Amino acid sequence: MKIVVIGGTGLIGSKLVTKLAERGHEALAASPASGVDTLTGAGLAEALKDASVVVDVSNSPSFEDTAVLEFFETSTGNLLAAEQAAGVGHHVALSVVGTERLSESGYFRAKIAQEKLIKAAPIPYSIVHATQFFEFVKSIAAAATDGDTVRLAPVLIQPMAADDVAEAVCRVAVGSPLMGTVEVAGPEQFRLDDFIRAGLKAHQDPREVIADRGARYFGAELGERTLVPGDLAQIGETHFEDWLAESLAVKS
Ligand SMILES: NC(=O)c1ccc[n+]([C@@H]2O[C@H](COP(=O)([O-])OP(=O)(O)OC[C@H]3O[C@@H](n4cnc5c(N)ncnc54)[C@H](OP(=O)(O)O)[C@@H]3O)[C@@H](O)[C@H]2O)c1
Repeated sequence: MKIVVIGGTGLIGSKLVTKLAERGHEALAASPASGVDTLTGAGLAEALKDASVVVDVSNSPSFEDTAVLEFFETSTGNLLAAEQAAGVGHHVALSVVGTERLSESGYFRAKIAQEKLIKAAPIPYSIVHATQFFEFVKSIAAAATDGDTVRLAPVLIQPMAADDVAEAVCRVAVGSPLMGTVEVAGPEQFRLDDFIRAGLKAHQDPREVIADRGARYFGAELGERTLVPGDLAQIGETHFEDWLAESLAVKS
């Protein structure tokens, strides 16, 4: 099958393109770097020609409230219209576990808007909700940093390796449309502050992580289980400790 990966140069997208090609599919990495821009529509019709499936793993360059909403609304609208014109039979999108519970956050309001457009469009779809990637430790810390201090709510989190996310998206992309959402998560739960503390410590980051019940996550208040999936989530195989050891070994 020809499968177009929008955001195919990104963290998940590049892994996904490799996995699809390994399974014998024609995987096209589409992004501004290859002349395909879902915000302007440039290069979209050409990229989607003869495609059976489109996987959207793009992300907004800016997480500022207005910019991120504009990104996901405009890019998803353009993409779905181009897919309809090209006769694409399956739209797959990657989103985040708990998105529907995080509407206080501008970023998650944008992801909610993206999902709404997908569900309202005539193209058969699948949405993959993944938990936070291990690779996202620094970004979570950066968003919660004030001076030398990182304040995080000590709520449950069940993060996963980007490689396991890409594997799950790959399985969905080559399957039949789910007309719904599937959840994927890592094999262990942590407290958010413990997870970030361990990630920063491994990289000798001197910032102090403080557990603070009232601390917001990208603008949203968190409950004990806001970030964790339901009982039916598919579980990735990579453990955080093993992933950390491997990523430190690659670095050194
Ligand atoms: N971070 C997490 O923990 C987490 C958890 C669950 C789900 N997710 C979701 O996972 C998805 C992918 O995240 P990621 O970290 O893999 O993203 P990423 O590494 O930041 O990559 C973003 C991709 O989007 C592309 N892109 C940017 N603007 C574009 C445009 N106008 N048209 C087409 N493509 C464009 C980029 O292309 P260029 O390289 O050409 O700029 C790049 O390939 C996101 O939708 C996010 O919501 C994230």
